[in-house]
Amino acid sequence: MKDPRAIVITGASSGIGTALARAYAASGIHLALSGRNGERLGAVAAACRAAGAAVEEKIVDVSDASAMAGWLAECDSRNPVDLLIANAGISAGTGGGSEPASQARAIFAVNLDGVLNTVLPLLPAMQQRRRGQIAIMSSLASFRGFPGAPAYCASKAAIRFWGEALRGELWESGVRVSVICPGYIVSAMTAGNTFPMPLLMTAERAAAIMKRGLAVDRARIAFPWPLYFAVWLIGALPPALTDSLMRLLPKKH
Ligand SMILES: NC(=O)c1ccc[n+]([C@@H]2O[C@H](COP(=O)([O-])OP(=O)(O)OC[C@H]3O[C@@H](n4cnc5c(N)ncnc54)[C@H](OP(=O)(O)O)[C@@H]3O)[C@@H](O)[C@H]2O)c1
Repeated sequence: MKDPRAIVITGASSGIGTALARAYAASGIHLALSGRNGERLGAVAAACRAAGAAVEEKIVDVSDASAMAGWLAECDSRNPVDLLIANAGISAGTGGGSEPASQARAIFAVNLDGVLNTVLPLLPAMQQRRRGQIAIMSSLASFRGFPGAPAYCASKAAIRFWGEALRGELWESGVRVSVICPGYIVSAMTAGNTFPMPLLMTAERAAAIMKRGLAVDRARIAFPWPLYFAVWLIGALPPALTDSLMRLLPKKH
C-alpha cells in the first residue's frame, strides 16, 4: 500500500519494530505500537510523536489472544487500520545443548500463536472494507530447518507459509499480505550471537527496505539477496547433500 495512514506495529519497543515505527512516523500518520517493556515503548512513542505522528502505545503480550483481540478492536474502531505489521518475536537456539521443551513451546507461542493473535482479529473488518495490508515478519531462517534453532526456524517457516497462502486467499477481497524475510539485523535478538553474521545490516536500513517493499505490495520481501539465494539453495537441495554442512553451522544460544 502506497500511503498507509493508520499503522499497527507489534514489537515496536525494540530493534526492527522500533526502526519501522520511526520510518513511518510523520505528520498525518497514526501509529498504534505495542510491546512488553513500557519504558522502551514509551521512548519510541515519544520519538514518533516528535516526528509528527499521532501515537497510541499498548503493553500487551502477543500470546494473550483475548487481550490482543480487545486492543486491536479498539485500535480499529478509532482509526481503521491500513497496515498491520505482525513483527513481535523471540529467538533462542540449541547453543546450550539441545532445545528445552519449554523453550520450543515459548517460541511457538510468541512467533506463531502471537502472529495469529495479531492478524486474525482484524481480518473480518479489513475484508469488509475491502482494504488493508498485512505484513508478517518471518525470516531467512524459514527456508531450511537449521539444527542450531529448531523451533525458531519452524515457527518462521509456519508463518511464512501461512502468509503466502493468506495472500492468495484474500486477494479477491482486496486485502494484501506480504511476508518479510530478513537476514541478520542488528538488534537485541542478534546482540548475543558470538558467531559471524554475514551481511549484518542495521535495523534502520532493514526498515527502509521493508517500507519500500510494502509500498509496492511485494509478496515476499527477502534480503540481503546473496544470503537469500544461499538459504533458498540450501532449502532446495536434497537433505542428503546439505545435512553434514548444517551440522557444522554455529548454534544460537
Ligand atoms: N534481528 C534479526 O536478525 C532478525 C532476522 C529475521 C527476522 N527477525 C524477526 O524480526 C522480529 C523483530 O526482531 P528484532 O530483531 O527486532 O528483535 P528484538 O530487538 O528482540 O525485538 C523483539 C520485539 O518483540 C517484542 N516481543 C517479544 N515477545 C513478545 C511478546 N510475547 N508479546 C509482545 N511483544 C513481544 C519485544 O518486546 P519487549 O522488548 O517490549 O519485550 C520487542 O519489541 C522478530 O519476529 C524476529 O524473529 C529478526
